[in-house]
Amino acid sequence: MDLGTRNAGFQEDKSEEPTAQITKFDSEEKSDAMSLKLDTVEEYNQIKPYAGMPKEVLLLYSSQARYKVPREILFWLTVACTLALVALTITVIALSPRCLSWWQMSPVYQIYPRSFKDSDGDGVGDLKGILEQLDHFDYLNIKAVWISPFYRSPMKDFGYDVEDFRDIDPLFGTMQDFEELLAEMHKRDLKLIMDFIPNHTSDKHRWFNLSRSGDPQYRDYYVWTDCNASNPKPNNWVSIFGNSSWSYDKVRGQCYYHQFLKEQPDLNLRNPHVRKEISDLIHFWLEKGVDGFRMDAVKHIFEAEHLRDEPQVDPDKPPEEITTEWDLHHDYTTTQVGLHDLLREWRAEMDIYSREPGRYRFLVTESYDYHEIEKTMMYYSTPLVKEGDFPFNFYLLDLPQNTSGLWAKHLIDLWMSNMPNGQWANWVVGNHDRLRIGTSAGPSFIRTINMMLLSLPGTVTTYYGEEIGMQNINITQDQVQDPAGRYNVSLSRDPQRSPMQWSDDMNAGFNPKTNLTWLPIHPDYKTVNVEAQMNDASSVLAQYRYLNILRESEMPLHRGWFCHVHADARVFSYLRELDGLSRAFLVVLNFDNEPAVTDLSSIMELPSQVNVLVSTVHTNKGKSMPKSQIQTEAGEGLLIQFSSNMKFNHNHKEQCYISEKACYLEAMGILYKC
Ligand code: GLC
Ligand code: MG
Repeated sequence: MDLGTRNAGFQEDKSEEPTAQITKFDSEEKSDAMSLKLDTVEEYNQIKPYAGMPKEVLLLYSSQARYKVPREILFWLTVACTLALVALTITVIALSPRCLSWWQMSPVYQIYPRSFKDSDGDGVGDLKGILEQLDHFDYLNIKAVWISPFYRSPMKDFGYDVEDFRDIDPLFGTMQDFEELLAEMHKRDLKLIMDFIPNHTSDKHRWFNLSRSGDPQYRDYYVWTDCNASNPKPNNWVSIFGNSSWSYDKVRGQCYYHQFLKEQPDLNLRNPHVRKEISDLIHFWLEKGVDGFRMDAVKHIFEAEHLRDEPQVDPDKPPEEITTEWDLHHDYTTTQVGLHDLLREWRAEMDIYSREPGRYRFLVTESYDYHEIEKTMMYYSTPLVKEGDFPFNFYLLDLPQNTSGLWAKHLIDLWMSNMPNGQWANWVVGNHDRLRIGTSAGPSFIRTINMMLLSLPGTVTTYYGEEIGMQNINITQDQVQDPAGRYNVSLSRDPQRSPMQWSDDMNAGFNPKTNLTWLPIHPDYKTVNVEAQMNDASSVLAQYRYLNILRESEMPLHRGWFCHVHADARVFSYLRELDGLSRAFLVVLNFDNEPAVTDLSSIMELPSQVNVLVSTVHTNKGKSMPKSQIQTEAGEGLLIQFSSNMKFNHNHKEQCYISEKACYLEAMGILYKC
């Protein structure tokens, strides 16, 4: 009987008799075939396997040891491999140190938009101007830019008095210019950090107009209290810009509080509607795609509701002489309960936008806490609660007070020893509010300070012009633009806000179109400018660029240990090393006006002879010297690369800091958690 159609591909095995005739079943024939009682197993044993064989045949084969055993082996092998892969993945994840984020890998460059580049010839910098100059950041290897405010503003405090947080001031351009700038920056892998001002608005803001006219919805948007129209001082609180922080408003017949100018009324952030407005604004700009915020003046966000007088620093001073922020202890106007909760709420809003890879939104807070570093450190996140990525570290602004190795060490130590474990350091030597370090420390220290910043652990903030060593301009009383200098020129912030020096052309290339600049150009622009310094290997710019590129490519510099090894009246010296990596760096900085010879022979990890990789005195590059006599000229900084298998931090823990420990496996070239 024929049991099926013949399989054309089936080759009969001539060597085995009798040859089976079974091939494929046709469906109609299936039932016949099923009903067919197979006499013996022998019969099927004669059949060779082939594609499409019937179930019975298949079962028969699959139960044979020669098929069953390999099948089981393969099955268990697959299970074992899968488990091994899962285990390997878990191990790799567990052993991998966290990748550094964009705000840790690059300096944050601060642009003061009035002063960066003027594209339309009105003498004031603008967004299109910034767009024109983006190559500058590629050149410097800078990946993050913070732009001071460019919202619509009456410019009483040059943009820190915001009339409309959702609009761009026409002086700077349009929303379209902003969007173009952001798109182009992102195309170039550049991040944009917005300045955000939650403490106050301009007195021209719609909310303030509605609040002063008593609109029920906006009544409590600001801090109002009853006061005497002829002596509008409900208490002794003073403004950062001097005199009472209260002004009388005729329309409402009450006083409003302003921590800064009277044209900058403080918002009442105890009002949930105001908080909602602020968080809507945060969403507005995050939706636009900005990469982070620099939160302005955060310690001033809340004031005590009881409005009691603040204690005087000198209790004997007559109350009418209490006019500056230095006259009072700010127990009731700064760092009030609720501040950190609010910042954490904003942080949580930001984190919603941080989830996509590469889209981390960064938060830096501005708070001058002077001698209260523990207050500053409160702005850092904790392992359980996220807040700022870092608060600005303003302590190095004091460096020029006493340029010595010991002082530099003290200021750096101050931050490193107070910073919570696992957090990320940062360094600021200038901004639009502080005199330029190039002037206050002196031109001979510019390169050395830049070398220090770019070889310390943490993120550097570079205020525009620091990369070429710009200096303060001299301002006379009649040239004053800054409201802080209106009554006392020495308080003016104009000296550090002069136009960026791009070239030795007209207006230093800042405004190449007309002879207008909102502040004078520094007279040194013929030599201190980007173009000239690009062509000079020994320039401040060339050194900045070299060190910034080196910092990114060298793991000891961006994520290694920082260990101070020497400090005296002249010299400060430290090591940067990574466990497991033999390549390490020694930095020797002379902060004095005299040359120095430093004996580092007690540092066993250093080879007896060292070679200079970079010197701030260009001609000393490549110099070799014994570690017992490291020579530095007055104000000179040296970066020395060396190789050692011993690690200084192993035996000197008290001199060393690290943000997040990682080790290097030189044999395989991988970094792992250790
Ligand atoms: C911040 C700014 C400063 C401004 C003040 C008021 O401190 O840096 O320039 O004047 O806030 O907004
Ligand atoms: Mg302009």
